[in-house]
Amino acid sequence: MEVIIRPDADSAAMLVARLVAARVRAKPDLVLGLATGRTMERVYDLLAAMELDFSGCRSFNLDEYIGVPAEDEHSYCHYMNKHLFGRINIKRSNTHVPDGMAPDLGAEAARYERLIREAEGIDLQLLGIGEDGHIGFNEPLSALMSRTRAKALTATTRQQNAAMFGGDADRVPARALTMGVGTILEARELLLLATGMAKAASLAKAVEGPITAMVSASALQLHPRCKVVLDRNAASALTQRDYYDWVFNNEPEWEGYRE
Ligand code: F6R
Repeated sequence: MEVIIRPDADSAAMLVARLVAARVRAKPDLVLGLATGRTMERVYDLLAAMELDFSGCRSFNLDEYIGVPAEDEHSYCHYMNKHLFGRINIKRSNTHVPDGMAPDLGAEAARYERLIREAEGIDLQLLGIGEDGHIGFNEPLSALMSRTRAKALTATTRQQNAAMFGGDADRVPARALTMGVGTILEARELLLLATGMAKAASLAKAVEGPITAMVSASALQLHPRCKVVLDRNAASALTQRDYYDWVFNNEPEWEGYRE
């Protein structure tokens, strides 16, 4: 795992967008794993402004609320169309979001896993982190080998996402279909972005704590190619910040990304 700390949320989002852009340019048929949420909005704004060629790319989103139709403004399908797909030249038929309205959620989860396999896996998976340490909607106690399935959301997550539902946590759906931790770990590269003080505690547990199903993001420690990009606030509870900065300032891989 590499931890990159940028001075503010904007420069952290810029670094993530530049990394995604580099991967798309290097592999025009990149298979992208995508996340939703407020943290990613800035990344998608930046990517849209870069006028990259996504015409050969395919994408798989991490999750979708159960019981929210795709056309509903609260669905993650709607979010993706608004923040990214409607602003870039990706073919809609190449984009995938789990169907939270499927009558048989188990069959939908199996279909989603099959689609990812048929695409020969995800090259680059974008991730955010929840205040309870989730990645995707893998809430505490999600098996570290879990696959796509329905999950009940924690009170913490429903509170975190309440702003999108008029500030009312009770209006946030109770369940979501989400890629499992095991599904996420199979992506060839992982890129997590976290900004703001509200993420500092869960982020520190994920990066410097023990690997535990109580903090799904701690499973990222198992992945051989995982980058965690933070602003100073999200990094504030980490104990080894000087070392992470030293690595970023000295590894040749980061030349051109430091300014
Ligand atoms: C969203 C997702 C979640 C979010 C996380 C952070 O598709 O999978 O894990 O990435 O909850 O959300 P924000 O960015 O809104 O704080």
